[in-house]
Amino acid sequence: MLVAPSILSANFGKLDEEIRAVCDDGCDLVHVDVMDGHFVPNLTIGPVVVQAAAHASSKPLDIHLMVENNTFFIELFAPIKPKYLSFHIEEERHPHRLIQKIRSYGISPAIVLNPHSSLKTIEYILEELDMALLMSVNPGFGGQSFIRSSLKKVEKLRKMIDGAGLKTLIEVDGGVNSENARDLKNAGADILVAGSYIFGSSSYKNAIDSLRA
Ligand code: DX5
Ligand code: ZN
Repeated sequence: MLVAPSILSANFGKLDEEIRAVCDDGCDLVHVDVMDGHFVPNLTIGPVVVQAAAHASSKPLDIHLMVENNTFFIELFAPIKPKYLSFHIEEERHPHRLIQKIRSYGISPAIVLNPHSSLKTIEYILEELDMALLMSVNPGFGGQSFIRSSLKKVEKLRKMIDGAGLKTLIEVDGGVNSENARDLKNAGADILVAGSYIFGSSSYKNAIDSLRA
């Protein structure tokens, strides 16, 4: 199981220190939430801060776009060279084209599904994706409660991926903590994103270890 702390719940007054701490404490990726105030009712950070985060991080970045104009934001963040760049299926008319665009930058493309979105929407492009990110809360804010039906969705996606013999990774984001990590693992998740659970813990290391176990 890979663990990706979401810096949305970090202390932005000492962001570099926070990022170094989770990297030293054994996380695998650093999850960065980019929100534009349109696709979701919240506004976060742009390329200047994400570039600073990339400098502080010894682990690859996992950028989660929650924006209306995917093409614009992909072009904006590609020079930072994250490992993953993910966009929401609900906001994209031409996801297949965007996947190729992300790959052309040497970045791994990923698609995000909101809790209501059907797996059918990515069925025919799954083989093009390095990762599929299933939201287990409504995007926009940290600290929300895990939506239990996400477990079924993870199981179903696991079957789709394994059935087709693909290597696409399954990432889950929202309300992840030590209580649901095991269920998520059993359902077939590969990467767990956690914001408030990790950054709200007195020991980031214990929190990361508990998600992995
Ligand atoms: C929500 C973001 C998440 C968020 C998760 O829109 O995509 O990455 O930071 O926060 P927690 O783990 O607190 O639910
Ligand atoms: Zn996220």
